[in-house]
Amino acid sequence: MPKTLMCEPRLLESDLSGRVYLVTGANSGAGLATTEQLARQGAHVVGACRRVDAGEEAFAGFGDVAGSTEVMKLDLGSLTSVRSFAQAFNARHDRLDGLVNNAGIMGPPQGKTEDGFETQFGVNYLGHFLLTELLLDILKASAPSRIVSVSSVVHVGTRRQVAEIHLDDLNWEKREYDRTMAYAESKLAMVLHASHLARRLEGTGVSVFSIHPGWVRSNLAASMMPGWLNSVWNAALRPLSGPLGTLSPFEGAQTTLHCLLDDEAPQHSGEYFSQNSVLYPNRENRPGGWPMPSPNPQAHDMELAERLYQRSLGLVGLNGPTGDATV
Ligand SMILES: NC(=O)c1ccc[n+]([C@@H]2O[C@H](COP(=O)([O-])OP(=O)(O)OC[C@H]3O[C@@H](n4cnc5c(N)ncnc54)[C@H](OP(=O)(O)O)[C@@H]3O)[C@@H](O)[C@H]2O)c1
Repeated sequence: MPKTLMCEPRLLESDLSGRVYLVTGANSGAGLATTEQLARQGAHVVGACRRVDAGEEAFAGFGDVAGSTEVMKLDLGSLTSVRSFAQAFNARHDRLDGLVNNAGIMGPPQGKTEDGFETQFGVNYLGHFLLTELLLDILKASAPSRIVSVSSVVHVGTRRQVAEIHLDDLNWEKREYDRTMAYAESKLAMVLHASHLARRLEGTGVSVFSIHPGWVRSNLAASMMPGWLNSVWNAALRPLSGPLGTLSPFEGAQTTLHCLLDDEAPQHSGEYFSQNSVLYPNRENRPGGWPMPSPNPQAHDMELAERLYQRSLGLVGLNGPTGDATV
């Protein structure tokens, strides 16, 4: 079984007082573990959660930490919510040392976001795309600063199919819906956005990374199964999955924390960092590396990244007609 990659202990003991971090999907799983660790090191961490109560309840479990936390409402499935969030964040804070685009959903039944985008493309990628764009000024003003986009090894695809960006059908209107491939494409879009953004931000002191956190025992599978099965999974199977090689949320936060805190990481801005990927069916995709080349050839296609960027600007209304889900 491959060894879990862990941050250097000194990084997890460094003093982060005075720094401000923003973590999306902070109430659960790896996002919650990331938030707790940064707060323990003295940072102020803003948890951007679609359920504010769940965030506050989760953060209450930290007990005494050297830093502080707050929860702000963010639903990545609504571009209006993303805009309101960014406006409120910019009004309330004058610095941002690290943005962690962590929130995600995996494999829900076919559906659409409030703005009409395929759910996984809309939440995992497009909501984070707009959020990042709206926070670039404060990130630049706080440089050196970092952006970590939590993708997945699934951006490579499945055993049978390599994931590809379909610019002519981003919303799965022309193809038979495949929820796994829709997840894979949304995560590939995150990898492309990170490497494209890193190029745009060269010389600004803002570094950008995409990462795979490993297979983490979290709530991520909840949207893939009926409620009763998720209860069984949480109660029985999930804890038992540790011996199979899955990671605790703290272990699943290591790649994000490494990219946020390691001194050398900015030299690899734009690159993909992967925790070891146990249980993934394609043996060649299992090894991790901080950083490592993405095994998906499309992840290196910077012309495609530029076209996706231009299209995304239009879709979120930052360039040309707004909010129209027809691509
Ligand atoms: N677990 C793994 O093995 C694994 C592997 C590869 C990549 N990842 C990625 O790692 C990230 C963290 O996942 P996790 O495993 O920690 O899962 P998790 O426990 O389910 O956490 C996901 C978080 O995203 C939030 N979220 C979902 N939809 C949202 C929306 N529309 N707006 C705002 N927040 C939303 C969830 O909020 P609610 O609690 O309100 O639903 C939750 O806080 C995800 O991006 C996932 O794709 C995970």
